[in-house]
Amino acid sequence: MTGVVTRASRLLASRARAADATAILGALPVPVMLLDPDNRFRNVNQAAEQFLGMSAASLAHVRLQDLLPPDNPVFMLIEQVRKTEATISDHDLNLDSPRLRKRGITAQGSPLPEEPGAVLLVMQDASAARALDRQIAFRGAARSVSGMAAILAHEVKNPLSGIRGAAQLLEASVGAADRELAELIRDEADRIRALVDRMEAFGEKPIARTAVNIHRVLEHVRRLAQTGFAAHIRFQELYDPSLPPVWANRDQLIQVVLNLVKNAAEAATQEGVAHPEITLATGFQHGMRVAIPGSTARMDLPLFVSVRDNGPGIPEDIRPHLFEPFVTSKSTGKGLGLALVAKIVGDHGGLIEVDSRPGRTEFRLHLPVVTEKDADQ
Ligand SMILES: Nc1ncnc2c1ncn2[C@@H]1O[C@H](COP(=O)(O)OP(=O)(O)OP(=O)(O)O)[C@@H](O)[C@H]1O
Ligand SMILES: [Mg+2]
Repeated sequence: MTGVVTRASRLLASRARAADATAILGALPVPVMLLDPDNRFRNVNQAAEQFLGMSAASLAHVRLQDLLPPDNPVFMLIEQVRKTEATISDHDLNLDSPRLRKRGITAQGSPLPEEPGAVLLVMQDASAARALDRQIAFRGAARSVSGMAAILAHEVKNPLSGIRGAAQLLEASVGAADRELAELIRDEADRIRALVDRMEAFGEKPIARTAVNIHRVLEHVRRLAQTGFAAHIRFQELYDPSLPPVWANRDQLIQVVLNLVKNAAEAATQEGVAHPEITLATGFQHGMRVAIPGSTARMDLPLFVSVRDNGPGIPEDIRPHLFEPFVTSKSTGKGLGLALVAKIVGDHGGLIEVDSRPGRTEFRLHLPVVTEKDADQ
């Protein structure tokens, strides 16, 4: 009798363990897929479904080679795992096919001792991780600028208006040749003032937020751009009209999108780009969550806004410092556009992702939407 009880309880325990394993696999935010010896998808978790953009049911009918071209390095990785029966990792892989478009992926393949030829493949999207790293880095950078901005405003602006006033007085009283010099002083004073004004935007002020319709913001910026700096660029708009409002400061959001569209326009009109084009897109993207600084709570960022251009891509040497102030590759650039974007998005509790290669550069903002708690305020 006791034997039966023990056997039954052992059976129950092992079932519970299997259920646990399935639940853990499902909840794991990392794409995990089990491939059989023919690279058929034997089992995938939810993150893998999202990553591959296909349901587990459809994946059951395809092989990895149906999703990726045969020369993709991931096949070499899988073969090596089968041959060496060891775990192998590969970094910075690109998964490019009409269906998949993933860059900077880290893939890890492991053999399954009880299933010869099967490979457990774990993928990790490094760009999201990198964007998070950057977020932390540039918050610090923006903070150091905010202190500097305050000093600049105090120490530079006041004497500057004195210099400008004096130059204006001179303009009225000197001869033609010297007037030119006086004008030069005035113009340069204006230029410094404009720079200081831009720096002041980095100051630490609490932001006033309301429910903002993101599509109105995008429309506004597109119109601004098309009547000015982006007059000869084709715009494409891919909006999801069902999106809820974002919880944001409208003016600051306009500034963010304007800076991104300006960069996109400057990139797309570089030499060698035959048909300059900017795509503005919005949509839902589930699974983006960030920690709220100073608490253990996490915030959902279900909405994205993307600004894409077909320019030559971000120069390699700029990439690691993209969001830092004064980093620029342009002769007339200040390198403040993206630093301010990062600061504002950070203040809103949002996140930025960047994906860039020749012919396709995308900046993707993840923003919080209005919650019931916000609406009650
Ligand atoms: N869409 C893009 N395509 C290619 N490179 C880009 C793009 N956006 C930004 N960059 C690169 O990042 C650098 C920094 O951009 P940022 O907007 O901060 O400064 P800037 O455009 O150079 O000057 P500012 O915005 O202050 O006028 C740019 O100089 C450029 O090299
Ligand atoms: Mg810029």
